[in-house]
Amino acid sequence: MASPGVAAHLAFMTRTRWDSIWLGPNLATFDSNLPGPWGEIADGALAIDGDRIVWLGPVSELPGAPEALAERVRHAHGTWITPGLIDCHTHLVHGGDRIGEWVARLGGRDYDDIAREGGGIMQTVGQTRAASDEELLAGAVSRLTDLARDGVTTVEVKSGYDLTAAGEIRMLDVAHAAGRLAKVQVQGTLLGLHALPAEFEHHRADYVDLVAREMIPAARARGRARQVDAFVEGFAFSAEECERVFEAARVAELGLRVHADQRSDSGGAALAGRWCAASADHLERTSPAGVRAMAEGGCVAVLLPGAYLTLRDDHPPPVQAFRDAGVPFAVATDLNPGSSPVRSLRAAGSLACSLFGLHPSESLAGMTREAARVLGLADRGRLAVGLRADLAVWDVERPEELLYWIGGSPLRDRVVGGVVDERERA
Ligand code: NIG
Ligand code: FE
Repeated sequence: MASPGVAAHLAFMTRTRWDSIWLGPNLATFDSNLPGPWGEIADGALAIDGDRIVWLGPVSELPGAPEALAERVRHAHGTWITPGLIDCHTHLVHGGDRIGEWVARLGGRDYDDIAREGGGIMQTVGQTRAASDEELLAGAVSRLTDLARDGVTTVEVKSGYDLTAAGEIRMLDVAHAAGRLAKVQVQGTLLGLHALPAEFEHHRADYVDLVAREMIPAARARGRARQVDAFVEGFAFSAEECERVFEAARVAELGLRVHADQRSDSGGAALAGRWCAASADHLERTSPAGVRAMAEGGCVAVLLPGAYLTLRDDHPPPVQAFRDAGVPFAVATDLNPGSSPVRSLRAAGSLACSLFGLHPSESLAGMTREAARVLGLADRGRLAVGLRADLAVWDVERPEELLYWIGGSPLRDRVVGGVVDERERA
């Protein structure tokens, strides 16, 4: 048995050693103060204590021998570590699927016409209302698990497929339950203004009122939503209707998002800019005035190439105009059963490069640093001391490879709040 002096010394050592240290990886920090497109640290080390990053830098600058510094040394030479990926725009809780609609569209049917005839989103509303809690949860966990296998540690999940106050909260409850099961951090967004439910066909203003007066306070009181989103489109809601809801969101201190200018220039980006929304998303048909408004309002442009691809759109968002105006990009899956059945954020990031011309470093920053900014999460999205230890460890030779391949699984480890997800271990 160790003498009391030695035991005290060991206890002291235990207390002062970091929990773990990743030794030898290249770090893509996405810290804009560091050089290069990735904020790269070659042959690095990253130490974790509790759920935080407590040290990072080149191995050569470690303040001691790794074994003396940390309880556990994880050898990761030749890998790349990025921040855990963040999918900042999904509709991942829903009942059923829309395979029939997809096939009909391949045969020439139009997405907008299907929506105007009461199909599309409203078909999913019917399937979601009919689904049991267990069915909704099983589907959400399955999709979330796929995202996690691809290095995702934080996901935004929107409501919007029930359109009753209780049902919208149920969707957000399911999203949070799925997050706990799949070990993914979920942030909820209330999307009451997604489509007009049939029961309000002749009472549009009453539905907008229901969202503002009942859904927003209920989501806020339950702590299930941090942001409020709205679909501005000819066959969805007008900018004026959204403003009524945005006023209520402001009162409830919730952030704002806008589905903007996807199918037509409906003034969505301009609305987002006027209200200093966190983001405007889609943006295929945003005008130069919309781009200017977003720059003035400090909005991030969330690009959703999965929807662009699936709807076989041919009018990409004005990426160069956003660059010229200094509007940053985020990239997300838009995971949903209608316009974007995409269950891989890396695939979305790859499509943002191939279809919209993003540089891989813009696309990866859009799935990390800028996605965190969209969600108002200052504690993640970069590798830096004091931030959450949410990491993805990749078996790739350079970061571009994460987007170059579509498919495949280069993920070696996923770390959430300092804890390695053992299910994802190769
Ligand atoms: O982001 N644009 C509106 N909402 C979803 C589509 C939802 C659906 O078609 O079910 C989107 O693409
Ligand atoms: Fe969407």
